Amino acid sequence: MRVPGGEWLGSDAVSRLQVVSGKGGTGKTTVAAALALALAREGKRTLLVEVEGRQGLAQLFGAEALPYEERKIAVAPGGGGEVFALAIDAERALLDYLQMFYKLGSAGRALKKLGAIDFATTIAPGLRDVLLTGKACEAVRRKDKAGRYVYDHVIMDAPPTGRITRFLNVNDEVAGLARFGPIHNQAQAVMKVLKSPETAVHLVTLLEEMPVQETADGIEELRQAGLPVGRVVVNMVRPHHLDEDTLRAAAGDHRTEVARALSRAGLGGARRGGLAERLVDPLLTQAAEHASRVELERAQRTVLTDLDLPTYELPLLGAGVDLAGLYELAKELRKQTVAE
Ligand SMILES: Nc1ncnc2c1ncn2[C@@H]1O[C@H](COP(=O)(O)OP(=O)(O)O)[C@@H](O)[C@H]1O
Ligand SMILES: [Mg+2]
Repeated sequence: MRVPGGEWLGSDAVSRLQVVSGKGGTGKTTVAAALALALAREGKRTLLVEVEGRQGLAQLFGAEALPYEERKIAVAPGGGGEVFALAIDAERALLDYLQMFYKLGSAGRALKKLGAIDFATTIAPGLRDVLLTGKACEAVRRKDKAGRYVYDHVIMDAPPTGRITRFLNVNDEVAGLARFGPIHNQAQAVMKVLKSPETAVHLVTLLEEMPVQETADGIEELRQAGLPVGRVVVNMVRPHHLDEDTLRAAAGDHRTEVARALSRAGLGGARRGGLAERLVDPLLTQAAEHASRVELERAQRTVLTDLDLPTYELPLLGAGVDLAGLYELAKELRKQTVAE
């Protein structure tokens, strides 16, 4: 079976629209940017789109706030791939849209003055989502004069898991707004792209109970809505320092042994109030915490394995994510694709 989103690097048969969702704070913006860079390293021209108006992408790339216009924000060394970015704004998308379908150039601006645009984009959330996803899908389908796609891939830094299905399922949302006419047709065209194998929705998670549960629920919801689930990206994975025996030992009570060992290592006598005595508790607490974290992570890993989806793992970068960190994560993604 071909998995949507599978082989997304190094192959032409990959999803052209990759949507990155996940619980808030798990690294959606970071992973979306790393994916775009990884594809650029393959020589692809990618567009990163942001739909939540937070300017997270600009911040990440150390660029000025993104205007409503596609901007080149990174060039891949070698290969010739490029990353463009766009912060999609519902209001501007609506003006574009009115212009496209009704040739409402200046009339659109008049509507804006009257507050009608605000009304449409804030009061009718269904319409807002059609505009945002519509703009992303337009970029996916856009071709140049020679008939080639302008972007090989569009990567969307999408809303969180709790809202993603509703956000992408614009057809349902719009049914109550328009049963026919251009908005209806637009929603249909958007859904055609979103439900096709051209699209993959990836979910980012941490090895923690809440985000893993949200991932499992999110996958279920996406599937029920007929939306193509791509991969699970396990982010901020921490290394495990201890082997099995040591882990078991760390979970147990070995106060006296540790105090003696510290004492043997020259850290004072094991008697009350000595250095070894004062060190032993904090050390044991840390070891026990580490052991229980490793155990919790294992349990979450089992839940993820049972989802039976292709997975990527990205390490926790100690120094946080700057541009160099992004390149490191992109490299990791490419390595894991090749290893499959
Ligand atoms: N692999 C990682 N290693 C270290 N820090 C990370 C990693 N991924 C994300 N972060 C950091 O975690 C925070 C949340 O990431 P972000 O991509 O903004 O999440 P989201 O878009 O899901 O809210 C940011 O400060 C980001 O730099
Ligand atoms: Mg974000």
